[in-house]
Amino acid sequence: MYDSFKRKINYLRISVTDRCNFRCTYCMPAEGVPMMSHNDVLSFDEIVEFTRLAVSKGIDKVRITGGEPLVRKGIVSLVKMLADIDGIKDLSMTTNGAFLPKFADDLKNVGLNRVNISLDSMDPKRFHEITRLGKLEDVLNGIDAAEKVGLLPIKLNCVIKENSQEEDALAVKAFAEERGFQVRFIHQMSLGEGSFSVVEGGEGGHCGTCNRLRLSADGKLFPCLFSDIGYSIRELGGEEALKKAIENKPKSGTTSIGHEFYNIGG
Ligand code: 5AD
Ligand code: SF4
Repeated sequence: MYDSFKRKINYLRISVTDRCNFRCTYCMPAEGVPMMSHNDVLSFDEIVEFTRLAVSKGIDKVRITGGEPLVRKGIVSLVKMLADIDGIKDLSMTTNGAFLPKFADDLKNVGLNRVNISLDSMDPKRFHEITRLGKLEDVLNGIDAAEKVGLLPIKLNCVIKENSQEEDALAVKAFAEERGFQVRFIHQMSLGEGSFSVVEGGEGGHCGTCNRLRLSADGKLFPCLFSDIGYSIRELGGEEALKKAIENKPKSGTTSIGHEFYNIGG
């Protein structure tokens, strides 16, 4: 699939839930957010049917996101259903890692290729301040579990405030180097203010080469993180939503008042 600016679109990010076991300060308010009603959340069959369609049109890279994807009930079955689709070359997940000790083995066995794990600090106290509900030790155990079962290459997502030389970022970088993981520094963004920036060590933020579409947990297909245009696959049907999202993918992002990271997964 090519959009109107001749960008090849081959990457689909699927948010499977807006819920999360953490409350990262840059992502959610402390009290949490109003959750999508269960009826609005796509079923596994709906997700898989749409993904199959998207793959038949040229998507070959799929990432499962949230919220936190591992809090979605039955996530391993969903990953298996997605992994069984012919034509996906790269099936990955972005997770906060806390439930990886429980799920890494099963995820690998059903066909997940690799994981990106969020890690913003190596200091237990700072980590807890940032995630509000998170325990650094759980995430480090999650990273170990992912490495052990071979969900590789492991990439660490580190959100930075000013730059990648700040203390937390340097510590995450040192840990990554020691263990042979890649690290991606993501500037803390405000979608509503349109403050988006490139990801150091990653592909995000380069509008000219953007190859992505995003499917939200309630079935809206968004061509751009920094724009509110989106098309419901339930209301329009997958085919039409896909066509509209591709046709209307903006040349570059501006602002979005409708998106939050917990419903669009970054
Ligand atoms: N700015 C930048 N990245 C964010 N994420 C969540 N909220 C923000 C934000 N405000 C990203 C982080 C995290 C992933 C799940 O979503 O990279 O690791
Ligand atoms: Fe949860 Fe990820 Fe948001 Fe943190 S950034 S609250 S781990 S969805």
